[in-house]
Amino acid sequence: MALKFISAEEAASFVHHDDNVGFSGFTPAGCPKAVPVAIAKKAKEEHAKGNPFQIGMFTGASTGDKLDGELARANAVKFRTPYQSSKDLRGLLNSREAHYFDLHLSELAQSLRYGFLGKVDVAIVEAADVTEDGEIIPTSGVGITPTICRLADRIIVELNKKHPKEIRGMHDIYEPQDPPYRKEIPIYTPSDRIGTPYVKVDPAKIVGVVVTEEENEGGAFSPLDDVTMAIGENVANFLVSEMAAGRLPKEFVPLQSGVGNVANAVLGCMGANPGIPAFNVYTEVIQDAVIALMKEGRVKFASGCSLTVSNDVLNDIYSNLDFFKDKLLLRPQEISNNPEIARRLGLVAINTALEADIFGNINSTHVSGTRMMNGIGGSGDFTRSAMLSIFTTPSTAKGGKISAFVPMVSHMDHSEHSVKVIITEYGVADLRGKSPIQRAQAIIENCVHPEYKALLTEYLEMDIKGHTPQNLNACFAFHRELAESGDMRNVDWSKFNK
Ligand code: COA
Repeated sequence: MALKFISAEEAASFVHHDDNVGFSGFTPAGCPKAVPVAIAKKAKEEHAKGNPFQIGMFTGASTGDKLDGELARANAVKFRTPYQSSKDLRGLLNSREAHYFDLHLSELAQSLRYGFLGKVDVAIVEAADVTEDGEIIPTSGVGITPTICRLADRIIVELNKKHPKEIRGMHDIYEPQDPPYRKEIPIYTPSDRIGTPYVKVDPAKIVGVVVTEEENEGGAFSPLDDVTMAIGENVANFLVSEMAAGRLPKEFVPLQSGVGNVANAVLGCMGANPGIPAFNVYTEVIQDAVIALMKEGRVKFASGCSLTVSNDVLNDIYSNLDFFKDKLLLRPQEISNNPEIARRLGLVAINTALEADIFGNINSTHVSGTRMMNGIGGSGDFTRSAMLSIFTTPSTAKGGKISAFVPMVSHMDHSEHSVKVIITEYGVADLRGKSPIQRAQAIIENCVHPEYKALLTEYLEMDIKGHTPQNLNACFAFHRELAESGDMRNVDWSKFNK
């Protein structure tokens, strides 16, 4: 069937008010850019005419500004799942002008197939290539592409010429069967291929192909500061000591590392540490540091859901496909983040907390318990199932006014049952095999900022009875103090009942 080439505006005419739309990609990598901008324009025009226009949005994870940002600013979002990091969209969610449900990223595709989240009317997918018989080659991020393409009534392809057709072979597309027919996912090592190099769709559903030449919206990393470097070094040294103690195999295990500057610094420090052998990566986002380490021979293979790299690094990969093609594999997030595989491979999982409590519970999502930051992302997929789950965080935020460690987290994403180790710029709290009071002592001694040590020690010394010594009158005192005086250091325990 011949492909029909259309403009972004024509493509937007296939998207109607109240439609549920699935978007390809994962982080800005692999997300469509031209059609979302055209949909946002259409939304504004409809609103100006007094007509409603809002869509439900399924994405892989966060997206670029041309997707989440444009649609949020056009007030075109009915609901959104599973993860976002857009300032404008965050504003809509926190004012409850758009509904948001925060979901483990590995679960989205199956939740769509199970019918839990309603119909997918349209799939809009970025491609490096598309054939008349319906083979779509994704670009630098996969996300939920295979599932939305299979479930959607209509498919719009953004054929982005910035991504060479020759990346065919860098993807491994596989969708598990649903229960009761599901079998094991046969990945035993990060480089195992189990699927096809393309997403196969019914070509009759492709309503049009929009040709673009849009740059990836890849952000650069901030320069590494002392705190980030210290966290990275603490992680690397801890992993070396785990190997020396025989708790990690001498060959090492595959690494999952989260998003952002800390994750990038951790990877850099691991690569630079001669005590850590060259290792494999089984993760969701492949960041700049992985590519740099691959060039140095320190990372042997990386399996992920996206190449969330800066544009310079992406161009480097595309210019050296011969080198990278047998070292990189991009998979749907249902597979990159799959708990079955995380547990089988025995990952070391390293993710970042917004806040932690002194008993080892983690808040990754809600600022002061109420305001959504980004979402849980893949952190839960990996934390619960990894061999060794580590959380990193700077010990304070906002120039010391906020302690990352509080008596009780104001929202919980990862419980004390899954969190094995917490690491800050000050050191490592190994929580394994410790009771709540022992965990609190380890965290205060090794991770908490010196300005908060006495306050948290005094909290423990309130002599509250029970296995976990929480004072229900005072456990949110840090958050209340922040709201009242703007500085958690002003907490005065004498104001609270014991
Ligand atoms: N209370 C209020 N604000 C806090 C805070 C706290 N306890 N801790 C940090 N912040 C603020 C920081 O000051 C910073 O604010 P700014 O943007 O105004 O400067 C912001 O939150 C981000 O903090 P930062 O230290 O730069 O963290 P980050 O960029 O590494 O992000 C998370 C941390 C938790 C938000 C991020 O890792 C995330 O979204 N995680 C959940 C998803 C995930 O783990 N994905 C990976 C799975 S593979």
